[in-house]
Amino acid sequence: MRVSFPAHRPRRLRRTRAIRDAVAETDLSPRNLILPVFVSEGRDAEDIPAMPGYRRYPVGEELVRHVEEALGLGINKAILFGVVEESRKGPTGDYAYDPKGPVPRALGLLRETFGDRLVLFADVCLCEYTDHGHCGLVAGGRIDNDATLPLYARAAVTYAEAGADVVAPSGMMDGQVREIRRALDEEGYRDVAIMSYSAKYASAFYGPFRVAAESAPRFGDRRSYQMDPRNAREAVKEVLMDLEEGADMVMVKPALAYLDVIRLVREAVPYVPLAAYNVSGEYSMVKAAAERGWIDGRTAMLEVLFAIRRAGADLILTYHALEAARALADLPF
Ligand code: PBG
Repeated sequence: MRVSFPAHRPRRLRRTRAIRDAVAETDLSPRNLILPVFVSEGRDAEDIPAMPGYRRYPVGEELVRHVEEALGLGINKAILFGVVEESRKGPTGDYAYDPKGPVPRALGLLRETFGDRLVLFADVCLCEYTDHGHCGLVAGGRIDNDATLPLYARAAVTYAEAGADVVAPSGMMDGQVREIRRALDEEGYRDVAIMSYSAKYASAFYGPFRVAAESAPRFGDRRSYQMDPRNAREAVKEVLMDLEEGADMVMVKPALAYLDVIRLVREAVPYVPLAAYNVSGEYSMVKAAAERGWIDGRTAMLEVLFAIRRAGADLILTYHALEAARALADLPF
């Protein structure tokens, strides 16, 4: 159909802020944001140099205050990552499922403090706990998919027991969702949900996170298990497989360089909650350019987050969560 709008002037709908708001197609609210939290074994909260403005927290008062601040801004979802001493690490990453590790202890403390007001997510992976830094067990220089699955299952059960509402496997082992679902059900955690990092790409944008979590691979890379950045359609297959295995929510990661993938997944499974991870490198890029005065950081941040929503994500995991929630009161658009 050919259409023409001879009398139309799109600028009429851009004249004032109130008119622009009236016709805006996309919303962003604190309800959409998930705050990533690094919980450490250190004694004090520490700045993360590669992530300006971001800190890691020992399990204690400062962690509670940090989450309380998020709640005050309307952000009631947090996902926890563990940062542990080198001496805790080993080839099989057993500390991932030690109830005395930082993640289970933080889950317990936050649940006890905030009750069900807070939705607690726990990332399930081994890379923060293995001495080689890979997400799975290494055998003969390769990552052994099936030998890794029971360890993920144990970690998921440990986090469920400690108080997680949602476990989030990020290791990209095939069959991880099925194995975790089975273990949770067997252990009586039928109501604990799974958010799968279904379409997680082998990305250079994870750099700052790996410094923050001390989880960089000590040899090789993650290209034999994370997705190839050249593929989009394959993401749909990963998502459908995870749903079949029992995932309750799915994720695309990173977000900014993969907006097309978010859109594709959104359209393929309109009935599933979709999360997107605005990863560390995406955060630090905005921060670094803003620090140099090259871009306006606040506006760029909001543009990025709106783009991720516009592409079709319901939930956004982002290190910008607190600043974004503050900035929403006074949009620059
Ligand atoms: C791995 C994991 C990674 C991130 C979250 N979970 C990094 C990786 O694959 O090395 C990245 C998050 C980010 O960069 O913000 N379990």
